[in-house]
Amino acid sequence: MNNGIDTYDDDSSYRCVCLLTDIQSGVSKSFSIKTKEDENIEIAVFNVDGIFYAISNSCVHKGGPLSKGFLDGDIVTCPWHGWKYSVKTGQSPHEGGDSVNSYEVKIIENKIYVNSIPSTVGKRIFQPHEAYLNLKNSVDDYLVHKSSDDVLPVDDKKVRILGISTTNANDKIAPRQSTSEAALHFALEYATKDLGAETVMIKLRELEFNHCEGYYSKNANACIFPCSISERDSEDQMIQIYEKVILWADIVLIATPIRWGSASSLYYKMIQRMNCVQNQMITHDRYLIRDKVAAFLITGGTG
Ligand code: FES
Repeated sequence: MNNGIDTYDDDSSYRCVCLLTDIQSGVSKSFSIKTKEDENIEIAVFNVDGIFYAISNSCVHKGGPLSKGFLDGDIVTCPWHGWKYSVKTGQSPHEGGDSVNSYEVKIIENKIYVNSIPSTVGKRIFQPHEAYLNLKNSVDDYLVHKSSDDVLPVDDKKVRILGISTTNANDKIAPRQSTSEAALHFALEYATKDLGAETVMIKLRELEFNHCEGYYSKNANACIFPCSISERDSEDQMIQIYEKVILWADIVLIATPIRWGSASSLYYKMIQRMNCVQNQMITHDRYLIRDKVAAFLITGGTG
């Protein structure tokens, strides 16, 4: 945000951003300033116990607005996915972490000036784990291929059906058959034997994955694909669902029992983690799920 006091000496790389009194202790504000090359850069200015610091406003992870982050001492936590930076140096508080540009600040006659030339330049160091990168690259390749196809290729490959059983029937404790899962078994077996399809069943209760943490509600751009939870947690097995649904299946068949008049809780746990797939349409105009059929098997009463 620019408050209109952006006056400066033409020879200087310092830009006046606001009055001292405009940023209270423990608070930060963002400004757009011009470099000598006439480029706009977004900076965040922080007041830490009366001393002012400036760093890039854009988190090196996915561009989260650091001026809206949580400030604890001189450490700001990005409001999107929690990466941390020192507002004094732009460096991560832990050894070998990522960093953002930092800028020198001068106070002249009750005004805050920020040098538009960074005193330290930020670096992206973190690399996601292999499974995450593989998924990301495979989906990128798949979409390039899809968008260059005017006509769907006709080949003789078998139709691939992914069955997802979402019941949470506890196989060890409750020795009873889940009706929704039994119906899914029957359907997949029929498709394999009688229709020659290739089938895979995933039992959601056997996968370890975390709940959606609602990044979309912070900002549509904070909900990234592949999901930032999978990026952070190398054990997160939602990656299997993303891979199979987006890259492998022609047909997705989801089975759920009725629980309290609704689908199973595991179904919702999975489907909320698909927010990042759907959100790609909004943020990147990318359609990750195309030319597929989806169907549900729903059983009630004794599911
Ligand atoms: S942690 Fe800052 S954008 Fe992800």
